[in-house]
Amino acid sequence: MKVCVVGTGYVGLTTGVSLAFLGHEVTCVDLDQAKVDMLRGGKCPIYEPGMEDLLAEAASNLTFTTSYSEAVPGADVVFVAVQTPSAADGSPDLRYLSSAAESVAHALNHDFTVVVNKSTVPIGSGNWVDAILRESFATREDRPAGVEFAVASNPEFLREGNAIADTLYPDRIVIGSDNPRSLEVLNRLYRPIINQTFTPPTFLPRPEDATAVPLVSTDLASAELIKYAANAFLALKISYANEIGQLAAKVGADITEVVRGMGLDQRIGSRFLQPGVGWGGSCFGKDTKALVATAAEYNLEMPIVRAAREVNTRQRAVAVERLQDELRILKGRKIGLLGLAFKPNTDDLRDAASLDIAKSLIARGARVKLHDPVATERFKAEQPELAPYLASTIDEVFADCDAVVLVTEWAQYLELDWSKFVGLMRTPILLDGRHVLDPDRMRRLGYRYVAVSG
Ligand SMILES: NC(=O)c1ccc[n+]([C@@H]2O[C@H](COP(=O)([O-])OP(=O)(O)OC[C@H]3O[C@@H](n4cnc5c(N)ncnc54)[C@H](O)[C@@H]3O)[C@@H](O)[C@H]2O)c1
Repeated sequence: MKVCVVGTGYVGLTTGVSLAFLGHEVTCVDLDQAKVDMLRGGKCPIYEPGMEDLLAEAASNLTFTTSYSEAVPGADVVFVAVQTPSAADGSPDLRYLSSAAESVAHALNHDFTVVVNKSTVPIGSGNWVDAILRESFATREDRPAGVEFAVASNPEFLREGNAIADTLYPDRIVIGSDNPRSLEVLNRLYRPIINQTFTPPTFLPRPEDATAVPLVSTDLASAELIKYAANAFLALKISYANEIGQLAAKVGADITEVVRGMGLDQRIGSRFLQPGVGWGGSCFGKDTKALVATAAEYNLEMPIVRAAREVNTRQRAVAVERLQDELRILKGRKIGLLGLAFKPNTDDLRDAASLDIAKSLIARGARVKLHDPVATERFKAEQPELAPYLASTIDEVFADCDAVVLVTEWAQYLELDWSKFVGLMRTPILLDGRHVLDPDRMRRLGYRYVAVSG
């Protein structure tokens, strides 16, 4: 099938490259000329494991452009995957989405095109995009006859760092539309994934337990709400572990044991029950805020989601408090942060805990040293005021340091020769912001091991 993807960020690029790999003819359009140039050269503008390999494997079915008139005409499906950041009042800023919808409408010329909201958009956006498309299409002097289109929702559930596997071997696919023809087109588009009939990429074999992928085919509003409800649930699971973690610290319980004991209950499950400095990234904060804002439009409170957000914010402050408890005075102390990306295997810094922790320490007069194995270039571009605090080596982080905080649990850090660094520190305080290091081992090596919770 012929596919257009609008926006080649984390979501759009993964969608476009994966669909091209499956044999669809895909054109990706982005306004960012530099991004398009990189992609044309086979280079990936984001750090996402496997993406450049998949780009190479799918190259014959892939085109990148900045021109909607090259990308949209003839497409059976147009995915809109532009960013939907938070506006000042917490509601999503839909400027990018409306502008993309207008541009799509000006280029539509196929007998039937499904325009799919892949961006995370508030409930009701399907109807709103449909209205923009129809209004913009109606203003076209050159509008061709016999052109039909309909809007669908196909929320994205990929995790950065695991994006390709999550796309090719997903837990489920959700499609929502009030138009049966759209559902049929999307069903056809995704059939190779649903039935798992494609030959896997050479670098990413099909998991042994992979079976047919459940398809949730529903109405627009339900599909839109599924995305928010799922993200908010994951966010509150983390916050719940952190809330229990605060109590564990008071009563002398070991939160790692507590969540292990909880998570083995199959009704609960261990994933996303990880105590630490909390969630970050472009989705959980923004989507929980949007859910609360949407509910407010209907005079509805969302106390559980609100609390999950508050706990998450508090958790970052708790990390700084733990350091203060240990060091008493932060002013003048050298404190190293290991990990800047909001989680491992991505260079995404949006709403990363590292930023709040670093800024808070600097505000208290500490001298920080920041390190990340992958995200430093992006960090320099996006956080120029913090760039002078970057360390170029791990030795530089530990040298004469009063405390080191593990903020992002990159494999490189977990596999460090920790015995080598303890001797470099002025005081060997190690704050484990993710509860991933073995406390006994770290203590044996000479660290004063402290965890965020307990
Ligand atoms: N990143 C994730 O892990 C993730 C997961 C699930 C859902 N989502 C949702 O998917 C959407 C996209 O997120 P992302 O992280 O990929 O965003 P992103 O910021 O990485 O990418 C957005 C891209 O859209 C481009 N763009 C903006 N306006 C455009 C326009 N009018 N025409 C063409 N291109 C345009 C930008 O240049 C950029 O390359 C958001 O709604 C997000 O909430 C993201």
